Amino acid sequence: MMKRWQFVKRLAPLMAMMVLVLAACGREDLSTLNPQGPVAEEQFGLMKTAIIIMGLVIVVVFAISFYVIIRFRRRPGDKTIPKQVEGSHKLEIIWTVIPIILLIILGVPTVQSVFNLAKDYRDDPDAVKVIVTSHQYWWEFEYPELGIKTAQELVIPTGKTISIEAKTADVLHSFWIPSLAGKIDTNPGGNVNFMYFSAPKEGVYLGKCAELCGPSHGLMDFKVKSVDPASFDRWSAALQEPVALPSDPAIAAAFESKCLTCHAVGDMGGPAFPNLTGIGSRESVGGILVNVDADDQKYDHEDTVYNNLYKWIKDPESVKPGNLMSNQYDLTEEEIKGIAEYLSELTLDYE
Ligand code: CUA
Repeated sequence: MMKRWQFVKRLAPLMAMMVLVLAACGREDLSTLNPQGPVAEEQFGLMKTAIIIMGLVIVVVFAISFYVIIRFRRRPGDKTIPKQVEGSHKLEIIWTVIPIILLIILGVPTVQSVFNLAKDYRDDPDAVKVIVTSHQYWWEFEYPELGIKTAQELVIPTGKTISIEAKTADVLHSFWIPSLAGKIDTNPGGNVNFMYFSAPKEGVYLGKCAELCGPSHGLMDFKVKSVDPASFDRWSAALQEPVALPSDPAIAAAFESKCLTCHAVGDMGGPAFPNLTGIGSRESVGGILVNVDADDQKYDHEDTVYNNLYKWIKDPESVKPGNLMSNQYDLTEEEIKGIAEYLSELTLDYE
């Protein structure tokens, strides 16, 4: 008895730690356990069904095992051989029928959800269409009906069905917004996968690349920002407004010759790399240098955006190893500061 108590005492801190770790998961935005939209709720429902059924099986099987081990153990001094039993129709039917029933309970809603979640909204006039293109290591979002393109931050109107077509520009990535929807692979070779989701509530939902795609795979984050439909319309209109070059001619020249060769702002520049229009309003720089205050999710002081931009432009390799921007340009300290300042002020007023 004493020994058993010792064992429990030793196990207790481990249990406490498990509770902490699991609780921390629930608070994270990158969690499937705190669904924020109908698609994620349906998936969470399946998870709960499976966990409850499996939990019941574990409890029943362990209870029977312990009962048998204790009740039928060999008593001291008992040398007799127990009665030998072979086959029992009753038991065999019970342990065949129960699993079949459990599999039906699991299988019916699973198959139902598989069909529900495979619905194709690409031709639905009420859905907002977005073409997602993954790149090492960033995300491009194109709204073909609105004629706009952005990067890293997928802005959507609340309540609307968002119809996603996902493809890749290079290797295999996977598009995943845990609190809103399941993941979908972006496969090389020109194939396009589709999915849908919606976010009834306003908010920022973290997304991540869920397929190993290179040294910065773990840093390939994006955000889904759900805003009310009027703000969404203002956002898509603001994104199409022309943007002025930096007012300082030297900075403007550097920005045009070193940045706009690949990036676009407004109607200027090349489309190959992340569109920078409104970058000063984004939640992060490069997807991972966070611009917002952790407590209230409000924009921090403008300095944070500037500092993050400066850090990124100065040495992108230190932020996202293996990214295609590293070593593509050389800028003087003055030019880096000027461009970081210009970009930090490149905001979109739509909320
Ligand atoms: Cu892209 Cu992992």
